[in-house]
This record gives sequence, structure tokens and C-alpha cells, in this order.
Amino acid sequence: MYIKISAVAVTLIQVVGFAQATTSTVSASKSTVSTLSKPQDYWKSFNSLVDPLNITIAAIPQTTSNDPSVECTYYEPPSNFKYNAKEWPNLWETATSNGMANTSEFQALYNAIDWSKAPKIDVRKLNTDGSINMTGYDQNTDPDCWWSASTCTKPKLEGVNEDIYTCPEPQTWGLTYDDGPNCSHNAFYDYLEAEKIKASMFYIGSNVVNWPYGAQRGQKAGHHIADHTWSHQLMTTLTNTEVLAELYYTQKAIKMVTGVTPIHWRPAFGDVDDRVRWIATQLGLTTILWDLDTDDWAAGTSETLESVQKTYEDFIAMGTNGTFKNSGQIVLTHEIDNTTMTLAMEFLPKIRAAYKNVIDVATCMNITNPYHESTVTIAPFNASAASSPAAAAASSADAVHSAAASVTSGAASDATSKDGSKAAVSAAAAVDSVSTSAGIQVSSNSLLMAFFAAAAAYLFSKLM
Ligand SMILES: *[C@@H]1O[C@H](CO)[C@@H](O)[C@H](O)[C@H]1NC(C)=O
Ligand SMILES: *[C@@H]1O[C@H](CO)[C@@H](O)[C@H](O)[C@H]1NC(C)=O
Ligand SMILES: *[C@@H]1O[C@H](CO)[C@@H](O)[C@H](O)[C@H]1NC(C)=O
Ligand SMILES: *[C@@H]1O[C@H](CO)[C@@H](O)[C@H](O)[C@H]1NC(C)=O
Ligand SMILES: *[C@@H]1O[C@H](CO)[C@@H](O)[C@H](O)[C@H]1NC(C)=O
Ligand SMILES: *[C@@H]1O[C@H](CO)[C@@H](O)[C@H](O)[C@H]1NC(C)=O
Ligand SMILES: *[C@@H]1O[C@H](CO)[C@@H](O)[C@H](O)[C@H]1NC(C)=O
Ligand SMILES: *[C@@H]1O[C@H](CO)[C@@H](O)[C@H](O)[C@H]1NC(C)=O
Ligand SMILES: [Zn+2]
Repeated sequence: MYIKISAVAVTLIQVVGFAQATTSTVSASKSTVSTLSKPQDYWKSFNSLVDPLNITIAAIPQTTSNDPSVECTYYEPPSNFKYNAKEWPNLWETATSNGMANTSEFQALYNAIDWSKAPKIDVRKLNTDGSINMTGYDQNTDPDCWWSASTCTKPKLEGVNEDIYTCPEPQTWGLTYDDGPNCSHNAFYDYLEAEKIKASMFYIGSNVVNWPYGAQRGQKAGHHIADHTWSHQLMTTLTNTEVLAELYYTQKAIKMVTGVTPIHWRPAFGDVDDRVRWIATQLGLTTILWDLDTDDWAAGTSETLESVQKTYEDFIAMGTNGTFKNSGQIVLTHEIDNTTMTLAMEFLPKIRAAYKNVIDVATCMNITNPYHESTVTIAPFNASAASSPAAAAASSADAVHSAAASVTSGAASDATSKDGSKAAVSAAAAVDSVSTSAGIQVSSNSLLMAFFAAAAAYLFSKLM
């Protein structure tokens, strides 16, 4: 069964009993952390065995497959990362689950934060259909810089990191993929490597511990790795503790598995306000949003494949018709499944032909050090270097197929479900964004509601 669901639907799935309980019997090892002088030092306590500059991906048989069902079969985690269910929040559940708000490491972090400075902003409520209840919130004055209500990206609060939502360089396509690492990403990652394309990868913590080689491969290939929360929920509806845990355990997962700790994150559905931003800032995280949305995750479900292809074509046209003459953009696309990744490979040649630069967000912002660790750096924006060797591949569809087919040996990947069930773990798919294909920063509560209603209806139709 193939289910695309919203974060809200994750809860429904759990109710219906789809979530697999993890069955590890290994006992939790005691955390050694008990005090933390500064919250922003939290990442120094993660004792990762992974050298981010020397990652070895096992030559497991499925790595050379393009068949999702083959790729997504169980494999043993890499030897330098041991998954122990007792040490992590439950997969696809709020990151305070499994007692994770009470661990000494989390308590140390929590207590190091001066919560008296936290903005007194309400935790948002959900309507029964799963949409956010914005009743009573003044969307015009937008006091909390709540993106879901207004697409606000400039915090109204001092000392809170301002969002990145566009690439300032002209003719630039900011390449971002959310919801990975997905077990069926081998062909896609092969393609990116063969074409020397770097993207910003927003990884979900539950996926990172579930498919560790997938995340290691992203790091090894030099992509810009960022945090996409543990369980992909609407962050403004979570309490301070829950928000902190969603970010913290994803930071930890990425560090333990890839050896680096991100300084960027992206909220699921773009749902962020100044309370959530303030907490992210305590962890040294800056929010990255987008200003163009493909809705690729919906292809084949709430949208037709053709309409998503049309959206891609429109965004590509904007690369040559003057829309981005003076500045660029960041596009929301997904690693979520074979459909979205196939779309990516279909359109990247055309995108590279239409835009001068097709690059990850760290590069387009000249952020050469996108991790707390200083060991791993990313090349800065450099017009000549960034503008593609691309154009070459761009005109030929054949180039795509051959690149996708030529699998680098030992290149990698993933397929595991650490719950040992060998069944696809909780299908908890994740879906961002509520905008239409109309273009720049569309957002409204009605769209959000329509989206949730559609997602819930779709889910139920599958479950029934
Ligand atoms: C890289 O990792 C491999 C396998 O873990 C190890 O044998 C090798 O010594 C490492 N190389 C360096 C330079 O650290
Ligand atoms: C965590 O600790 C709080 C109090 O500090 C307690 O109320 C709660 O039950 C504990 N939760 C778990 C899962 O142990
Ligand atoms: C939305 O919130 C308002 C104000 O808190 C409340 O009166 C209303 O009942 C809520 N609506 C729903 C559908 O929950
Ligand atoms: C550029 O193309 C887009 C997508 O087709 C279109 O919406 C927009 O109006 C065009 N802009 C110009 C200046 O032609
Ligand atoms: C990964 O992709 C496969 C299909 O390619 C899909 O069935 C699966 O749900 C995805 N997994 C997650 C966790 O998103
Ligand atoms: C997955 O994608 C690959 C290439 O993008 C394609 O060849 C294959 O048919 C797809 N598989 C499924 C099950 O959709
Ligand atoms: C990045 O660096 C280049 C080259 O130094 C410069 O031209 C450009 O304005 C910088 N871009 C940003 C967003 O800082
Ligand atoms: C890009 O970087 C290369 C290597 O550092 C340098 O030689 C070149 O001048 C740079 N180009 C621009 C436009 O900054
Ligand atoms: Zn997402």
C-alpha cells in the first residue's frame, strides 16, 4: 500500500495501528551529559563515530537497483552508527515520545535555555479537520510573523534568526529536496552525483535513523544537509518542549549518522512563527523556506502528474523570460518518493538550461560552513563555477537516462527499517506546503484547510 499522508494523518495512522512499535531489546546506554553551560554548545555532546569526510557506504546489493521495492528492503545499519530504539523518540511520533523529554541530555539543554526570554506566543490549535485554527489571529498585523498566516519571514522579535526564503543571485534556482532520506533515492542521488549537482537536503530525523546509509550518502556527495524535524508536524501547534525535542533529536540523528550538525532547518508545511523561530535560534538554527512551490508531492494524488509537470514548465519558463533577471528563487521540491524524484530527473536538464545557477541554498547564500563543525565546508557562490557544466547535459534527455542508469559502484544506499519488521516503516510521508502553482509565496488558511481535508480524505480512502 502506498500512502501519502499529512502530518496530521500520521496521528490517524497511529490510531489505526499502522505505526510499528519498535522492538529493540538493547538497553539504553546512559547519557553522559548532565550540564550544559550554553545551549548552543549542545552539539559538542554528540559522540558521533562517523567521520563526515570519510564515509564508507556498504556495497549492499540493493544499492544498484532502481526498483523502489528492492531498494527499500531491510539492511543492517552502518557499523559506525548503532540504532538503539531506547535512545530515540519513537519513529514518526512527537520527539518527546519514549521519555525523550526526560533524558539527562535533553534536560541539560532545556535548563540551559533562558525560557524567561521566550516569546509568549500561543501554541496553535488544530481544527477537527487537521487544519490550523487561525480564528482570533490578526493576519494583517501578523504580530508573530507566522508564515502560515502571512508568509512572513522577517521576525518581529529581536535576537531571532531571520528566515532565508530566496536566493538573491540573479537567474538562480535554489535547489531543495525535503522529507528524505528516502529509501528509494539511489537513482536520483546517482544522477545528482553524475551531473555534479548539489542540493539542500532537508532530512526528517525519523528517516535518518531508519535509513542511515541514505543520509550518509547525502553527506558524502557534498549536499547541504539540513534539519526537517523528527516527525514532520505543524510546529506552531507543538509546545516549547516539543518544538525543542523535534529539532534537537533531529540534529542529534544527523550528527550521529553523518558526522555533522546542521545550522539550517525547514519547518514542515512552512509552519513557523516567532516562538518556534526563537527556539530554533537557541539551537543555532536558521529557517530556510521557499518562494516557489512545485507541489510535486501531490503528483498522482491530489494533483495530476500533468499539472505538476506544467508547474515545473512554468518555473523553467520564468528562468528565461526575465522573471529572475535581478534575483533568484528557492523552489520547494521533495525526495519523498519515486514520483517526485523521477520528476526531478526529468526536469533538471531543462532547469539547468534555463537558469544560470542551479545550486544548494548554502552556496547561493555564500554560507561556506553550514554545520556547527568547522571540518566540512561548501563552496561559496561563484558565478563561473556555479553556472553549469550543466548546459551540456541540459539539451539531451539521453544524458539523463544514461546518468541515472550508470550507478557508481559502491555508491550507496539504503533500505532498512530498524524496527526489524522488514515492512516499510509507518509510511509516514511528509508533505510540505500549501501553495498553489501560481508562483511566489502563496499562502492562506483556506488553502491549508483544503489541503488537510484532501489529505485526510485521501488517507481514509486508502485505509478503508
Ligand atoms: C576511512 O575509513 C576507512 C574505513 O572506515 C578506514 O579504513 C580508513 O583508514 C579511513 N581513512 C582515513 C584517511 O581516515
Ligand atoms: C517526565 O518527567 C515529568 C516531570 O519532570 C513527568 O511528569 C513525566 O511523567 C515524565 N515522563 C516520562 C515519559 O517519564
Ligand atoms: C478556533 O478557535 C476559536 C478561538 O479560540 C474557537 O472559538 C473556535 O471554536 C475554534 N474553532 C474550531 C473549529 O476548533
Ligand atoms: C514568465 O513565465 C511565467 C510562467 O509561464 C509567466 O507566468 C510570467 O507571466 C512570464 N513573465 C513574463 C515577464 O513574461
Ligand atoms: C520512500 O519512497 C517510496 C517510493 O519510492 C515510498 O513508497 C515511501 O513511502 C517513501 N518513504 C517515506 C518514509 O517517505
Ligand atoms: C521509479 O523510478 C524509476 C526511474 O526514475 C523508473 O524507471 C521506475 O519505473 C519507477 N518505479 C516505480 C515503481 O514507479
Ligand atoms: C556571494 O559572493 C559573491 C562573490 O563574492 C557575491 O558577488 C555575492 O553578492 C554574494 N552573495 C550573497 C548572497 O552574499
Ligand atoms: C570562481 O572561483 C575560481 C576558483 O576559486 C576563481 O578562479 C574564479 O575567478 C572565480 N570566479 C568568479 C566570477 O568569482
Ligand atoms: Zn516536509
